Amino acid sequence: MEDLTRRRVLQAGAGAGAALLAAPAFPWTSGPAEGSPGSRPGVGAKHTDAKHTWDDEPDELIADIYRHRDVTKVINALRGWTKNGQALPKSLPSDLRAFIEDARELPEWADRGKLADAVTFNQKRGTYLGALYGFASGMMSAVIPHEAMVVYYSRGGAALKDRISKTAKLGYDIGSLNAYQDSGEMAVTCVKTRLIHSAVRHLLPEQHQWSSRMPYQEKPITQADQMVTWHSLPTTVMRMLKRWQVPIDPAESAGFLHSWQVAGHMLGIQDGLIPATWSDAEAQAKIALDPVLKGTPEGRKLADMLLDLGFNLDLSLLSRGVLGALTRFMLGDRIARELRIPREPVWDPLLETAWGPFILVREGILQAGMPKEAYWTFDEMLRQFVLLYISELRMPITIELPYTNNPN
Ligand code: HEM
Repeated sequence: MEDLTRRRVLQAGAGAGAALLAAPAFPWTSGPAEGSPGSRPGVGAKHTDAKHTWDDEPDELIADIYRHRDVTKVINALRGWTKNGQALPKSLPSDLRAFIEDARELPEWADRGKLADAVTFNQKRGTYLGALYGFASGMMSAVIPHEAMVVYYSRGGAALKDRISKTAKLGYDIGSLNAYQDSGEMAVTCVKTRLIHSAVRHLLPEQHQWSSRMPYQEKPITQADQMVTWHSLPTTVMRMLKRWQVPIDPAESAGFLHSWQVAGHMLGIQDGLIPATWSDAEAQAKIALDPVLKGTPEGRKLADMLLDLGFNLDLSLLSRGVLGALTRFMLGDRIARELRIPREPVWDPLLETAWGPFILVREGILQAGMPKEAYWTFDEMLRQFVLLYISELRMPITIELPYTNNPN
């Protein structure tokens, strides 16, 4: 059997040697030790089984915090720590403090020039990003089965709106002018999120049915899971922008990728698993993201809550029907069907036929070619996503350790 496999590999190698060699180190078999010399996106020194690797150092520290009932003390200490350059509160347990001191540092390979290009990209494309982060990536998280399961049964599952505003904060922080500078907040947001993921890894397995819900995972949120979710963010955003033919400056595109490579590192993903280029990202997403997308009972409940996103804010163009049609348009018929989203007789065909021309007119590539009303409607829709995004960010958002899982 082994021989047969080896022979097949050799035969394939003879026929498609270069392609085989160029294939990314996927799915999840190699990566570097965190911080090992020379590690950077896509380059690693040590083999890692990403489906059975988590984030050991913070996982142990945070588990200790829960065991010693120090959660409130840590929440209070971290509440006032908001800026990247701000000193850490003395009241933090010393081992956690030492960890955060290290974790807040940018990786050696971070490139300030590329991060500045990312800011330009975010400024130019902010209107699309509101809809893409806020909705396309959000809805996608409902059809990533591991993520849907973990989110649904943890604290966030009971208060999805709150969770969305916190994720919106990450999208906002990564796009802000000073994201990774001392006056910015992205390093803090990433490190706090990393600690929350550790908390979820501690709390969920304590839930009495957890081992039967995820029998194949000792703890949730593996390195592999993190990368799948990573692809639901920048890779998905870039795919959509390309599909819509939004013109993108190559340096800005590289900057946008870089800002997410840095975010991945700061969230505790091992450098070797983070794609080095957009083509690696695309190749990884084809293997690791696309085939896993699927409607599950937990995902359907999360999607159902997401479809009501605009409801409380009275954003008329973000009604359930329109958001359902957008889900179908962005994620396809199969996903819409699996989420039991009904067809929309007006919006489905309108999006299919008029969204493409709308973008071309909006970008000044086409001078005319679509009815004014349709143009106005789509433009207003994008504006309402931005409003939604802003309204989520209006309240001070603090990313804090959860005390419990989803109590429902
Ligand atoms: C919390 C982002 C990967 C599950 C958070 C928060 C952010 C975030 C910003 C804080 C929001 C809050 O406190 O509610 C990200 C990013 C990821 C990633 C950018 C990857 C690049 C994952 C994965 C899973 C996951 C792979 C599950 C498989 C959760 C859960 C919470 C959380 C359960 C806590 C929500 C709560 O109970 O309050 N994440 N996440 N995340 N994340 Fe992630």
